[in-house]
Amino acid sequence: AQQWRGVIAEYADRLPQHVQERVVTLGEGGTPLVAAPRLSELTGAQVHLKVEGMNPTGSFKDRGMTTAISAAAGRGARAVVCASTGNTSASAAAYATAAGMTCAVLVPDGKIAMGKLSQAIAHGARLLQVEGNFDDCLVAARKLAETYPVELVNSVNPDRIQGQKTAAFEVVDALGDAPDVHVLPVGNAGNITAYWAGYTEYARDGVAARTPAMWGFQAAGAAPIVLGHPVTEPETVATAIRIGNPASWEQALAAKEESAGLIESVTDEQILAAHRLLAAEVGVFVEPASASGVAGLLMLAESGRVPRGARVVVTVTGHGLKDPQWALRTADGGSIEPVRVSAEAMAIASALELG
Ligand code: F0G
Repeated sequence: AQQWRGVIAEYADRLPQHVQERVVTLGEGGTPLVAAPRLSELTGAQVHLKVEGMNPTGSFKDRGMTTAISAAAGRGARAVVCASTGNTSASAAAYATAAGMTCAVLVPDGKIAMGKLSQAIAHGARLLQVEGNFDDCLVAARKLAETYPVELVNSVNPDRIQGQKTAAFEVVDALGDAPDVHVLPVGNAGNITAYWAGYTEYARDGVAARTPAMWGFQAAGAAPIVLGHPVTEPETVATAIRIGNPASWEQALAAKEESAGLIESVTDEQILAAHRLLAAEVGVFVEPASASGVAGLLMLAESGRVPRGARVVVTVTGHGLKDPQWALRTADGGSIEPVRVSAEAMAIASALELG
């Protein structure tokens, strides 16, 4: 079989021409759709996970970054800027490097996971920790891009949505049709917007017979769409979705309404429980924010709101290695220390209680 060529080459006929003039790719997309029998058992549905941590920089952001950076490169841009809770900055930094551009990233002070910070710096981005939260960073990045010769590569850039919609195409291409329900975390709301664009495009063109209900989940301490008003001081352990005023708020509401879906919130405890369950019982290691879709699905299943046998796809958005510290904590907040033993089979056998 031929190697996967990245989302622009794979979906060329469904992406705008201007992103194809100078393609900058790291081989993003083509991520696994993994059957999750344990989640099916717990929910009574048929659950698959779209494992977006398998993208080149470890999150779904690479799908939209290949298109945004390619478009910028095609226009001869030299520099890009983004605001980020971490993953967008890691992705922008990598793709800018591949394109030979400089990249500036604005991140909320002290509130991004170490893995993501390391990526942006390793790829040579000019990283500034802004005194403020993500929403403040985004306002500043937009102003910067209006006034100075730098292109904004946040998901308010329409080329980002074009690239990210390919995830919905891949789901349909793998299953043969759209699922009944698509579940995902919601932060700045670009991804729910992009999936809905992808699903409706495939349905319009008859590639899929239907569209799924879109179920989005915000963290309870950062749930502006659920509350119906911006949150000035968003707070959650899921730092990737610690966002109080999402840029694609209207589009997220449209996706919810047009798909007869829902947008609800899950607590940090539910997020961390789903994070543990995914790792320990499913075999998929994600970062906390990425577990909020699974947390929401489990919550709805408990109250009998998941239709029996429904085909459900849950996007897990980012890799567990981005923010690994959570795996070393117990449910009640204690820390887990590895057991030390001497390098002897007997001592090891007894530590493992092999009898
Ligand atoms: N999951 C992860 C791991 C994320 O990094 C993000 C967003 C989301 C979910 C939510 O997606 O914003 O499209 O609704 N991260 C952005 C960033 C904000 O800067 O990396 P969304």
